[in-house]
Amino acid sequence: MAVDRFGRNIHYLRISLTDHCNLRCIYCMPEDQTFRPSADLLQDDEILRLTRLFASLGFDKIRLTGGEPTVRANVVKIVRGIASTPGIRSLSMTTNGILLSQLAQPLKEAGLQRVNISIDTLDPEKFRRLTRWGKLQQVWDGILAAERVGLAPIKLNAVIVKGYNEDDVIDLAALTIERPWQMRYIEMMPFAGVTDIQTKQVVTAADIQKRIESEFGPLEVSGKYDGEARIFRIRGAKGELGFISSVSVPFCSACTRARLTADGVLRMCLLREKEIDLLTPMRDGASDEELRRLVLDGVWNKPWGHGLEEGLIPLNRAMNQIGG
Ligand code: 5AD
Ligand code: SF4
Repeated sequence: MAVDRFGRNIHYLRISLTDHCNLRCIYCMPEDQTFRPSADLLQDDEILRLTRLFASLGFDKIRLTGGEPTVRANVVKIVRGIASTPGIRSLSMTTNGILLSQLAQPLKEAGLQRVNISIDTLDPEKFRRLTRWGKLQQVWDGILAAERVGLAPIKLNAVIVKGYNEDDVIDLAALTIERPWQMRYIEMMPFAGVTDIQTKQVVTAADIQKRIESEFGPLEVSGKYDGEARIFRIRGAKGELGFISSVSVPFCSACTRARLTADGVLRMCLLREKEIDLLTPMRDGASDEELRRLVLDGVWNKPWGHGLEEGLIPLNRAMNQIGG
């Protein structure tokens, strides 16, 4: 078991498969973002080796992220390899959904259990503005494909940006009335690349909730958490609403996560710059035992929490270079 010095059991690994993406969301990266060459990224066999290594340390839950994980070559093969690794009980993916209408079925067959799909608005023009070139219909088709093949329960993510989509939280919430989906609202967090938007145009979870309640009345409180999301329901709705208030109400004390970036560094906090390079020692011939020691040492020294309140913004990577 991997435990940190505060007694948190760290058993959830988010693996970024690539920093590349087929969209350019304004809250994630600048339009002219450059991406790393494939040779600098973890290769398929390196991902599977590290997966076995983390599993041997008690990690049992994996989420694949990006950039956009579905643009990674061999994504289905990688999913199959991770899904069949002894000890991995939960395997999910966070995706923008653009390629899901083709990939949902093969991913499900390879052993993927669930997907979180990003959809920030139901208005095609606003969607294009937020993603810089995305077509909403492709995402919608992707969501339906994921539901059809049983990548369930369907969870949708929306990052809310002042001046872009704060009015759209109501239409998104209305999706849950007839559908058993979970609609999750995420407070925008600051990183390198587009820090200005990320700090100046935040909409807090409390504000989002207020907007939704002005339309649907008081939300039913479930008292339940799903990961970091506080769960509510519109009275009588089939689905749920989730609020992820990473900035205004941090959930660091309950954090069980570690992140492996596409270029092979272990990042123990999304919002802290500290990183442990695993790629270089692995390519220099480190043994599993040596790598395990690096990971356990990183876990032990996991930062307590982020420093946003003290004005500490992680600036060594943009969001897509870390993995959501
Ligand atoms: N703050 C919060 N969430 C973000 N995401 C991308 N950039 C940010 C940001 N600055 C989200 C995406 C997706 C997940 C990968 O991370 O919308 O749901
Ligand atoms: Fe791509 Fe996701 Fe970043 Fe949007 S938020 S640019 S979909 S990685």
